[in-house]
Amino acid sequence: MSEAKKIRAAITGVGAWVPPDKLTNADLEKMVDTSDEWITTRTGIKERRILKGEGKGISEMAIPAVKVLLEKTGTDPKEIDLVICATVTPDMIFPATANIVQHAVGMTNAFGFDVEAACSSFLYSLTIARAYIEAGHAKKVVVIGADKMSAITNYEDRSTCILFGDAAGAVLVEACDDGTGIIDARMYTDGVGIPYLYQKAGGSKYPPTIETVTNKEHFLYQEGRPVFKFAVTKMAEVVLEIMERNRLKSEDIAYLVPHQANLRIIEATAHRMGIPRERAMINIYRYGNTTNATIPLALYEWEHKLRKGDNLILATFGGGFTWGAMYMKWAYDGDKVPKPSIETNVVGLPEAQS
Ligand code: UT7
Repeated sequence: MSEAKKIRAAITGVGAWVPPDKLTNADLEKMVDTSDEWITTRTGIKERRILKGEGKGISEMAIPAVKVLLEKTGTDPKEIDLVICATVTPDMIFPATANIVQHAVGMTNAFGFDVEAACSSFLYSLTIARAYIEAGHAKKVVVIGADKMSAITNYEDRSTCILFGDAAGAVLVEACDDGTGIIDARMYTDGVGIPYLYQKAGGSKYPPTIETVTNKEHFLYQEGRPVFKFAVTKMAEVVLEIMERNRLKSEDIAYLVPHQANLRIIEATAHRMGIPRERAMINIYRYGNTTNATIPLALYEWEHKLRKGDNLILATFGGGFTWGAMYMKWAYDGDKVPKPSIETNVVGLPEAQS
């Protein structure tokens, strides 16, 4: 089979939706013993979005994100074969949030499921979409990355509450034979990370009791330093592995699309790749760590700058530990995509970057 005719899975559209309510560093200074200066220098974060209101789960954000995606790409919901929702904060333990979105949006010919691999669920889900498409089992797949981190964040714990925010993003993945699409990916898992980042209760091992609630075991727990050390090494290592085995030099790469956990981790990865900071998509300032929404939200904000054939490296790191990198050739000119009619609350790039 000639290279041009090889069936690849390509991202052909991006949607996103973020809640309008902001939680700024100044707000956090009033809630816990912290400062804008500490948060900015240690993490790069200035503000995050919070989904407010009773009875609202991630589907509240994922549904408009998918509607934006389908509108922008002119896709009938009935054309979708598969919906994958990457999340650590599903609406409910079961059924899958993918089903809730599938039903609300009318993707009546699709089957769906959720994927949980901490912050790496979105990139893992893209590898699953790729496998279905390359095997010929699906033609159009919606991959959602959505998290309501405010639901599992302890706003009395200054070491974690400054990090996280709520958001949703979604991409359309389609079969392409024009040389664009996902070319390579390498994902890793290492359970050595379990003690450093987890949510103890709420699963089958520690079901909810008065004690688990009193002991705040339904909130996420993180020992930041060991996670940072592992993340900073492993994210760069896997990106370099992908670059090496695809013979990519720094100058061949249009953008690094990293998970946004900490500005210092992103900068270290870009440095190891030999690319300038401007070629890393960085929006952690505006949204914090939105777990599985970080990568699609960055693609959404940078979409208008992307051109068909651009080489992108997507990279992730998360609890568990989980990490990985993916190399893709972007499939379309982003500046030709129509603006959505739905209000997404997404800020977009500042003047200097756009
Ligand atoms: O997305 C999932 C994967 N997660 C990550 O990749 C997160 C990786 N970890 C990190 O990004 C960083 O470890 C943090 C941003 C979480 C923390 O930064 P750090 O530079 O590793 O700080 P630290 O935890 O070593 O804490 C340094 C000091 C401590 O005080 P002492 O012991 O030196 O007196 C903390 O108590 O900073 C203190 N501290 C704070 N001070 C002001 C911790 N949180 C705060 C705070 N404000 N919010």
